[in-house]
Amino acid sequence: MNQELTSVVDHFNPETPMAVEFRRLVSRLQYKRADTPMSPILLTSAQHSEGKTTTASFLAVTLAHQSDKSVAIVDLDLHRPRIHHMFGLPLKNGCTELIQGAGDAESVSKPTGLPNLSVVTAGTMVRSPASLFEPELIEQLLKKLTARFDVVLLDSPPLLPVSDTMVIAPLAASVLYVVMAGKTPRDVVIRGRELLEDVNAKLTGVVLNNSKGVLPYYYNYKYYGYSN
Ligand SMILES: Nc1ncnc2c1ncn2[C@@H]1O[C@H](COP(=O)(O)OP(=O)(O)OP(=O)(O)O)[C@@H](O)[C@H]1O
Ligand SMILES: [Mg+2]
Repeated sequence: MNQELTSVVDHFNPETPMAVEFRRLVSRLQYKRADTPMSPILLTSAQHSEGKTTTASFLAVTLAHQSDKSVAIVDLDLHRPRIHHMFGLPLKNGCTELIQGAGDAESVSKPTGLPNLSVVTAGTMVRSPASLFEPELIEQLLKKLTARFDVVLLDSPPLLPVSDTMVIAPLAASVLYVVMAGKTPRDVVIRGRELLEDVNAKLTGVVLNNSKGVLPYYYNYKYYGYSN
């Protein structure tokens, strides 16, 4: 069944404007955290459907392309897991199992086709994901993952509807706050940022998603002289 599923790894074209933007994001991230560890990197947003999973997936592929460091993308959205879809992988045997002590970082890692990129899917769905988001459990999970991988990227649920990300955020070395340009109201963006500040999250940057739809000239590559 999974043979029919496609992966972002196969669709990633390093020559596209989008790939350029992701390389810029990696450069900024490395520059900003040059003196301190940048991993684990948490991607979150204030509300649903702002592009966290999409951004995390392409960022993971970009990081894996750009270096020979071992990279893992980890689905910590146990409410609406999507990372397995992005990489064409089965959902089961992932974070839930790792948190519950059934396996180690190696046994739950799934290959992607890129030798240095692995996926840790959300794992078996549980009735009450919030029950797994105890700070000690998440701390142990992150310890296992950072011991195995050089760079760990964490996809997460949105900040406003559920509290899970408030548990992950203080344990992350960097937090990238995704905002869907032209869609997320200003007060919602501010509220999400306040929640991150409440737990002393290391907010490293904001990823403005979909800026093309809002600022069409920004991506006009003729304007910038990138097209022939
Ligand atoms: N820049 C973009 N341009 C067009 N579509 C986009 C863009 N970013 C994300 N999308 C689409 O928007 C939808 C939501 O994206 P995604 O799943 O990445 O968001 P999310 O913040 O992870 O959502 P959730 O809160 O449900 O986990 C998806 O269908 C995705 O393909
Ligand atoms: Mg998501």
